[in-house]
Amino acid sequence: MPSGRRGRFAPGTPVLEAARELGVYVESVCGGRGICGRCQVEVQEGRFAKHGITSSADHISAFSPKEERYAEKRDLKEGRRLSCSATIQGDLVVDVPQDVAINAQVVRKDSDGRVIERNPAIHMCYVEVEEPDMHKPLGDLDRLKVALERDWGIKDPDVDTHLLATVQKTLREGNWTVTAAIHRDQPTDRPRIIAIYPGLKNEAYGIACDIGSTTIAMHLSSLLSGRTVASAGASNPQIRFGEDLMSRVSYVMMNPEGREAMTTAVRQALNELIDKVCADGGIERSDILDAVFVGNPIMHHLFLGIDPTELGGAPFALAVSGALSLKASEIDLPMNAGTRVYVLPCIAGHVGADAAAATLTEGPHRQDETMLLVDIGTNAEIVLGSAARVVAASSPTGPAFEGAEISCGQRAAPGAIERVRIDPETLEPRFRVIGIDAWSNEPAFAEAAGDKKITGVCGSGIIEVIAEMYLAGIISEDGVIDGALAAKSPRIVENGRTFSYVIQEAEPRLMITQTDVRAIQLAKAALYAGVKLLMDKLAITEVDRIGLAGAFGSFIDPKYAMVLGLVPDCDLDKVKAVGNAAGTGARMALLNRDHRREIERTVTEIEKIETALEPKFQDHFVAAMALPNKVDRFPKLSA
Ligand code: FES
Repeated sequence: MPSGRRGRFAPGTPVLEAARELGVYVESVCGGRGICGRCQVEVQEGRFAKHGITSSADHISAFSPKEERYAEKRDLKEGRRLSCSATIQGDLVVDVPQDVAINAQVVRKDSDGRVIERNPAIHMCYVEVEEPDMHKPLGDLDRLKVALERDWGIKDPDVDTHLLATVQKTLREGNWTVTAAIHRDQPTDRPRIIAIYPGLKNEAYGIACDIGSTTIAMHLSSLLSGRTVASAGASNPQIRFGEDLMSRVSYVMMNPEGREAMTTAVRQALNELIDKVCADGGIERSDILDAVFVGNPIMHHLFLGIDPTELGGAPFALAVSGALSLKASEIDLPMNAGTRVYVLPCIAGHVGADAAAATLTEGPHRQDETMLLVDIGTNAEIVLGSAARVVAASSPTGPAFEGAEISCGQRAAPGAIERVRIDPETLEPRFRVIGIDAWSNEPAFAEAAGDKKITGVCGSGIIEVIAEMYLAGIISEDGVIDGALAAKSPRIVENGRTFSYVIQEAEPRLMITQTDVRAIQLAKAALYAGVKLLMDKLAITEVDRIGLAGAFGSFIDPKYAMVLGLVPDCDLDKVKAVGNAAGTGARMALLNRDHRREIERTVTEIEKIETALEPKFQDHFVAAMALPNKVDRFPKLSA
């Protein structure tokens, strides 16, 4: 348990061996010497109707001397056994506990509730190395290799050059016992020793990182248990060179030092985040042996030190689209001298490694149902399909959904209106503000607000206010604010030749202007037109499920997204925010190298559609300017 695998074994078989035969690979750093404790299991006692097994304490061997020694020195909790030395004596139900290091194919739930099967690219292997002998002139490193083959079946591994200078000292420091970190990304790769530690090294860590154009999110995980030890986020410092992606490309084009400045800035932020997760997790940077990075194509290029100019115009050529394996020291991220970096592949010129990671997380390619996966940022990345066929595109939505280009727009931060309701009779609004736990018309609101200022409306608030304006009849299907209502409500005010809707009279006065409505119409039409092109390609008129990824997707209310026609008609309970799906995908690739192969394969099979080259994009765009849409109906929304 929890894998549920079962089998028959001769009495006397070590539990660890039985687990391996069943494909439940329980971790073992010390190779069964009874010193690492990584192989702990629990034997359940009693009847197990579901399994038809009577398990009892007599059905497993008594404590072996190795276990006695281990339990004396370290904490071996009640009921726990070392599976390398406990042997099977009768029918047993064995638990692989979730708080102990577990290895490939044993599933565990991560902090976000997702089950990630583990099979990392790095394994820790403890060995006892023969001491040097004048009659056998084999070198220290060569004798380490002999021990690795003898105890772990690792044949003639490659060795990182930096270890040549330290191997002799490490072996002597460990009194001829060392733990070698072995990297093997592909099962067919020659194994490589990337780090050597004196004695037993019972832990190794990895980081998974999503480099967004606005924020960077990093997770530190134990490679031996899969547990996320620490998480941290920071603003992307490249914002000072340009708010959105295209302005950063322009900065590179106009400034000879621009690319280098932005690469340095993002790497510096990453180094600070590494320091932070290490401090929070109580580990050293040198304990990190593996790292996975994802990002949109422009973030991906700037992170790797590649000029993104080609991504600024058709045909949006990527310098490299495939997955990359490199050393962290090559990209100025000093951790351990042997730390490896894996970068997920990009799908296309504007659909990046972040969309690939989100695809890995949500798995449209693994399902029979058709799923639409949308990451809304300044550029929406769209993936649509099922196990039969997956297509992808990006659409230039611009920054309106993030609150930019909107007169009262602001980033999601305390003081920003995030939820809005409008009374269809009186046209009076009520709203919720980030940091205040009450609706504006409730008595608790004034008390909680105190002298805090309400400073603007964030992306999700803008979607809601415009959708509510439409539902209350303030805006027509064409997106025009009805000036005739000014006679009925003081909330509708004249503003030059058009009208605006006032959400807050007090300073700062917050209004939704006709220009704001147009900006949202343009953004949502671009998104919908991209989605529609992909639906055309698959010859479908509806989707079964919708996943809204990214920070914006997490806060947006799916109902309002549909009222405005951001996404096509779908059962509301099948429209879900999928959180930082890109970050989760990065973590999956960190903890399981099979996921790396899966996404590499999937990306080559995804059909890329370039919206700019599709003649029908313009037609779809024009039809989608209306609320919710001129051509497509939304029967499930009406229901
Ligand atoms: Fe190390 Fe069992 S494998 S104690």
